[in-house]
Amino acid sequence: MSMLVNIGCGDVYVEGWKNYDYMPHSSHVSQADLLGRLPLSDAQADVVYSSHFIEHIPCELVSGFISECFRITKSGGVLRLVLPDWEELCDTYLSLRRSGGEQHEKADFLMLEMLDQCVRRVSGGELAAYYARLNSEPSEQREMIEFVRQRTGYDLHAPVRTLPGNRWSRLIKNPKKIINKLEQFYIKGIVSLLPSTFRQQNVSLTGVGEKHAWMYDFHTIECLLLQAGFKDVRRMSATTSAISDFPFEPLDVNANGLPRKGAESMYLEAIKP
Ligand SMILES: C[S@@+](CC[C@H](N)C(=O)[O-])C[C@H]1O[C@@H](n2cnc3c(N)ncnc32)[C@H](O)[C@@H]1O
Repeated sequence: MSMLVNIGCGDVYVEGWKNYDYMPHSSHVSQADLLGRLPLSDAQADVVYSSHFIEHIPCELVSGFISECFRITKSGGVLRLVLPDWEELCDTYLSLRRSGGEQHEKADFLMLEMLDQCVRRVSGGELAAYYARLNSEPSEQREMIEFVRQRTGYDLHAPVRTLPGNRWSRLIKNPKKIINKLEQFYIKGIVSLLPSTFRQQNVSLTGVGEKHAWMYDFHTIECLLLQAGFKDVRRMSATTSAISDFPFEPLDVNANGLPRKGAESMYLEAIKP
């Protein structure tokens, strides 16, 4: 039987796969800290998939992470990565900014989206505040709301998904969430003791995996994958893969058949020799 692995799955996973995340959203996801040794033995996985995870890893740990993916993949197995495409972002930003006029707001959004995810100090950051502003005047902001959806896959019009039960019952059912809340209280207490200038400029209280630690383009990721021993690094799309019966939906395509993570993601696959 094939072993299919999803690293840093968040709430997007396939039942029957081995799904891992720091904060499991369901019993189909195992809790793991994925920055060190991955919780699988050597050469076990036929497919290792990871979407919008690698850009959250501190850059000095990225080659270690890719080596771990190499270690757990079988010979002939495939690693599929999905992540923001820095080259595409730069191209789109420059062309919007240089068009000027009404395109400036879109260029401003791309700056906000990329920079805020790197530097925010509180959960949601400036991006959440911007989304709230768009949503407060949806009829006047139709073009920007559509631009956000097309770029990021995030649909500001979509109804907010709520998990069953109230906040407390959800918390009690998931002991990791209780530990996480206690951790947050503890961290906030410690941080409040720091000198305020240091705190304001250097300390971030965002969630694990919320901030981007680095950005990549095809060339930089290809070099990292080849260095780790992978071969045949190929660019794919949200709807193409060399993996047989790849579950495009829910992983890379949403229920409307559109790229789940919008136009700014790149998709690549590499083979373990
Ligand atoms: C941006 S989300 C991507 C989720 C999903 N793969 C997707 O494509 O929508 C990043 C995920 O990585 C997880 N994550 C970040 N750092 C982690 C770590 N050190 N160990 C385990 N999971 C981590 C976060 O909990 C979060 O669910």
